[in-house]
Amino acid sequence: LRHLLTLDGLPRQTLCHLLDRAGQIRDAAMGRINRRQVLAGSSVCTLFFEPSTRTRSSFQVAAQRLGADVLNFDASTSSTRKGETARDTLKNLEAMGVRCFIVRHSDNGAVHDLAAVAGEGTTLINAGDGRSAHPTQGLLDALTLRQAKGADFSCLKILMVGDVRHSRVARSDLHALRTLGAGEIRVCGPASLLPEDDTLAGCVVGDDFEQMLQGVDAVMMLRLQRERMEEGLISSLEDYHRDYGLTAERLRLAARDAVVLHPGPVNRGVEITDEVADGPQSLILRQVSNGVAIRMAVLETLMT
Ligand code: CP
Repeated sequence: LRHLLTLDGLPRQTLCHLLDRAGQIRDAAMGRINRRQVLAGSSVCTLFFEPSTRTRSSFQVAAQRLGADVLNFDASTSSTRKGETARDTLKNLEAMGVRCFIVRHSDNGAVHDLAAVAGEGTTLINAGDGRSAHPTQGLLDALTLRQAKGADFSCLKILMVGDVRHSRVARSDLHALRTLGAGEIRVCGPASLLPEDDTLAGCVVGDDFEQMLQGVDAVMMLRLQRERMEEGLISSLEDYHRDYGLTAERLRLAARDAVVLHPGPVNRGVEITDEVADGPQSLILRQVSNGVAIRMAVLETLMT
């Protein structure tokens, strides 16, 4: 594996190796114990053309824990503002000796396009492109579910809720869940926010949130991607919350030990109430911690 661009088609063995390795790293106290400087002398660049808090920061922490030098490229203060292309940016940073690029871009397929022009010894990791893929988020969500529910996904009913149409997280989560053999994947949201292509093949799809919540083991909430949304796809945030907001009362329809995930950033009071986001069934901050371990496992696997 040279690049990590998508989880679509990633062999189960590779996916499980990354989850196992991240689990080992996490068990070793988030990599602080027995830290191996396997990337000492390597330069890693977070090349982000879109905002990020969790993904960029956790890649930075992960790379530093492995001993790499980290260059944080900020598009808003770079020559991108003068019209320099992403390709030229990559080639110039490559010429400075950067060996690994973690790339976020608003265009679908942008990271694939950059991988096609990258030098032979360069590794690219997709940190989210358009609505296409966010593979390390898919991995960290799978790891979080596995820690909470065990490795056998075949007995799990998992519900994904909200703006699947614009969500790269949803696509990568679906790829991971299918590869890991999830028993039943339910998807719920207003028709205007569900994709019309084959993204949801094999899923149970519906728009009645309370019906879809019945008996599920995990609820994966999605952020409303307003930056990618045309006007009028939802009537109002208040209406959306009324129909698809996860409240404590609604969560009681799921299995008693159901867990709640959300990739962040959370629109509190829209997709989810404070009570649920900060409640005992929420794994939201566990997802964030697992993000560091997953990104260490990915960097270690791709770069060594
Ligand atoms: N989940 C996620 O991708 O968060 P950021 O946009 O903050 O990186």
